[in-house]
Amino acid sequence: MSAIVLTPAGVWSMYDPHQSVLTEICVQAVIRNMFAKTSFPAWSNEAALIGWDDFLEAITPFSRTYHSYKYPAHSSDFHTPQLALESSNPRSGRKCPARGTCHIPSQVDLCKYVSINGVTAHPHIENDGTVYNIGNCFGKNFAIAYNIVRIPPMQADKKDPMNKSDVVVQFPCSDRFKPSYVHSFGLTPNYIVFVETPVKINLLKFLSSWSLWGANYMDCFESNEIMGVWLHVADKKKGKYLNIKYRTSAFNLFHHINTYEDNGFLIVDLCTWKGFEFVYNYLYLANLRSNWEEVKKHAEKAPQPEARRYVLPLNIDKADTGKNLVTLPYTTATATLHSDETIWLEPEILFSGARQAFEFPQINYKKYAGKPYTYAYGLGLNHFVPDRLCKLNVKTKETWVWQEPDSYPSEPIFVSHPDALEEDDGVVLSVIVNPGAGQKPAYLLILNAKDMSEVARAEVEMNIPVTFHGMFKRS
Ligand SMILES: [Fe+2]
Repeated sequence: MSAIVLTPAGVWSMYDPHQSVLTEICVQAVIRNMFAKTSFPAWSNEAALIGWDDFLEAITPFSRTYHSYKYPAHSSDFHTPQLALESSNPRSGRKCPARGTCHIPSQVDLCKYVSINGVTAHPHIENDGTVYNIGNCFGKNFAIAYNIVRIPPMQADKKDPMNKSDVVVQFPCSDRFKPSYVHSFGLTPNYIVFVETPVKINLLKFLSSWSLWGANYMDCFESNEIMGVWLHVADKKKGKYLNIKYRTSAFNLFHHINTYEDNGFLIVDLCTWKGFEFVYNYLYLANLRSNWEEVKKHAEKAPQPEARRYVLPLNIDKADTGKNLVTLPYTTATATLHSDETIWLEPEILFSGARQAFEFPQINYKKYAGKPYTYAYGLGLNHFVPDRLCKLNVKTKETWVWQEPDSYPSEPIFVSHPDALEEDDGVVLSVIVNPGAGQKPAYLLILNAKDMSEVARAEVEMNIPVTFHGMFKRS
């Protein structure tokens, strides 16, 4: 018997019937031989309603995010960072009645240990338990950079690993006063990839906003209309920034799908939103209270989604100026060396559909993170509304879809079969909200990851707001 703990967190206000931006709920389910029998504790219908500032505190690179890791037995199992996000807010921690169930041992202010002002909700966790994350750093004279921090696994001395946290490498910022919004990053066995987008935070506005003119977090965002996207790479083991100027056209980025090395190239797969305008500008309640036709109209003006593969050459020879440096046979992505020593990247399209996003990507993380892989699982957004679950073969572009009318899934979580021989040998879990279903408006869905066919569902007699990120923890 395996125990599953899903801790989904809704983050966009549009789906919350109480019009609160973040609703935190916890769901516990028990599965036997993949056929579900669930038990939802009574507290789950007492979901805490949390305000905008809590949400921002959880996601903003400026917030003081609190991270809880349990060493050594479980840290490597946190294949998504949701625990970090769930536990990142002291207030939400107090309100979440599941803390005992989740066995969160303590809350730690990482900023006290390393030079960062916040970190993302998407750390990478290696199989030995080593945690990597990226955060903004405001140094002397307001010098802004992005630091990669590393938290080692528990050692034999049993001392708190947080005390051994360090900054592995620092990425420079394209603008002295305006750090980019950061949501995730890429990690391979030997390299770290950071994608700096044109969605910028005006630091002067940010630091003065609440106290002086009562602005909110969104008022501090602006777009750099000319910088495009800068991709940065560092040597992970040497902790050395590789000063190679990778550039491409503008997009927003929240989630990396996966990153791996192949014969002198880095393959960087991303869920992008085309253009420099911030996607969040289209997620205001006013956009979402409209009828469906109006919702669609708003979404059509927003940056459009596309899952893309970028290929970054690591060995640069000036003699190749003007040429496409990508020699891998299986990709159409290009990287052209220009005379000013920048390398202009054009992507291979992995998935593209008008107003149809492949987002909230998950992979068989434990076995394939940072390595060549074939399958990604994603939440399908239709004009920003999550209405399906998708599987994508990143090599052939073949897709599989689970979809039912009036059903709104959460991020698909891949759980490998304990004796899996193949990458997609396992199940996909998602919490589905089915508001028209009367007494049982939500359920935990279990799909066969091979073909996204239903294995089982466990219905509950309570309302669960539509949610996004989640996690699986094997017990
Ligand atoms: Fe995220």
